[in-house]
Amino acid sequence: MADIAVLGFGARGTIYSLIAAEEGLKIVAACDVDKERRSAAKRLLGLKDGMCFDSAEAFFAAGRLADALILSTIDGTHYEYAMRALDLGYDILLEKPIALTLAEVDDIAAKAKALGRKIGVSHVLRYTPFYMKIKEIIDSGVIGRVMNVNQTENVGYFHQAHSFVRGNWHNSVETCPMILAKCCHDFDIILWLTGKSCKKLSSFGALDYFKAENAPAHSAARCKNCAAAPDCPYDAYQIYSARPTWVRIPDGQEENWENAKKVLDDDATFYDKCVFRCDNDVVDHQTVNMVLEDGIVVNLTMQAFSGKVYRRIQVGGTFGEINGVLEDNRVELEIFGKEEKQIFDIGVHDSVSPHAGGDRLLLVDFMKYVDSKSGGFKADIDKSVESHRLAFAAETSRLSNGKVMEF
Ligand SMILES: NC(=O)c1ccc[n+]([C@@H]2O[C@H](COP(=O)([O-])OP(=O)(O)OC[C@H]3O[C@@H](n4cnc5c(N)ncnc54)[C@H](O)[C@@H]3O)[C@@H](O)[C@H]2O)c1
Repeated sequence: MADIAVLGFGARGTIYSLIAAEEGLKIVAACDVDKERRSAAKRLLGLKDGMCFDSAEAFFAAGRLADALILSTIDGTHYEYAMRALDLGYDILLEKPIALTLAEVDDIAAKAKALGRKIGVSHVLRYTPFYMKIKEIIDSGVIGRVMNVNQTENVGYFHQAHSFVRGNWHNSVETCPMILAKCCHDFDIILWLTGKSCKKLSSFGALDYFKAENAPAHSAARCKNCAAAPDCPYDAYQIYSARPTWVRIPDGQEENWENAKKVLDDDATFYDKCVFRCDNDVVDHQTVNMVLEDGIVVNLTMQAFSGKVYRRIQVGGTFGEINGVLEDNRVELEIFGKEEKQIFDIGVHDSVSPHAGGDRLLLVDFMKYVDSKSGGFKADIDKSVESHRLAFAAETSRLSNGKVMEF
């Protein structure tokens, strides 16, 4: 059985490692620049001496340590590390986004092809029982010809504030456009469900709310000093007291609200910056309209302003309609003219694998792909390049007043 190395032992690297342990997959090496993450990796994986690295330089200098590499460092490192890993002969499970420009995405795909290496991209939605059920229904033909798809990525007001206003993905120059970071999965799932490619798209959207002109009267630069905080849903102390594990707590301290609060109290950290006074430039709402082959019309909306984080989909066919919310794990099928709707309760209960069980199935399938001589992988890089192409095109369109982009 093929073995694995993990580069980037943060949230994603840890999830894959926990799943690997449960599935009997062997992780033999890990690398992270963060001391605490390395200690966690050693503890969890029981690595041999010399197999836990503190820099990517040292990791790559050690040569090829396993058959497959889980590449789960931050977005801006994916291009360099994927290219180096391919040179060393790794097959790669690459976190999305593949890279930060379309040229880099194409480069990685071309190099993998030239070297005969396998790259799977972590499009976990393809592996969720929820979307697999929807695909099965569409492919069965019971809803007739697909005419319309509406997919909404509801980011959640607190998640938007954490990731796209204050945190890691707030600035498109430092990272990437939000439509790529958040919705390359959605473009991918729409192409997969319909089995069609996109002929043209246009997009509108902007950063309209999280900016200085919308700051409440008497508000301050930090929530801790802010007179408006009690009435502000974006008050960091309200958001993180409900989610203390979202705060990066210093080495050796327990993950709890008491320790998280000390981090918020420290002005050197970003957590309690006023959401109206950050240097964010990514959108807070955006919509993409697409025309696929056979005239299927699609709307994809990504928006911050929801109470929960959830994806909703509606597929309209000539004989019936599918509706569902991924996080509910429930698919509704209505056949026109029949009174009763069919309800499919998917019933995934996987405490380790987020994305409604998708991460587990994706990792297990990827390792079968690595082991196989001829088998395929649902989310290989060639398929994923298409979703990235659409995300980059949507951003170009948005910045050009909705210009129609044709393919
Ligand atoms: N597939 C999905 O649905 C999904 C979900 C969330 C995040 N992601 C992607 O996964 C990747 C990781 O995200 P995360 O949430 O785990 O982030 P994270 O910050 O929790 O983890 C990243 C880890 O990489 C380490 N790191 C950073 N630079 C490094 C370097 N040069 N060398 C070695 N280690 C380094 C950090 O110390 C950290 O532990 C990102 O690209 C993100 O966009 C994908």
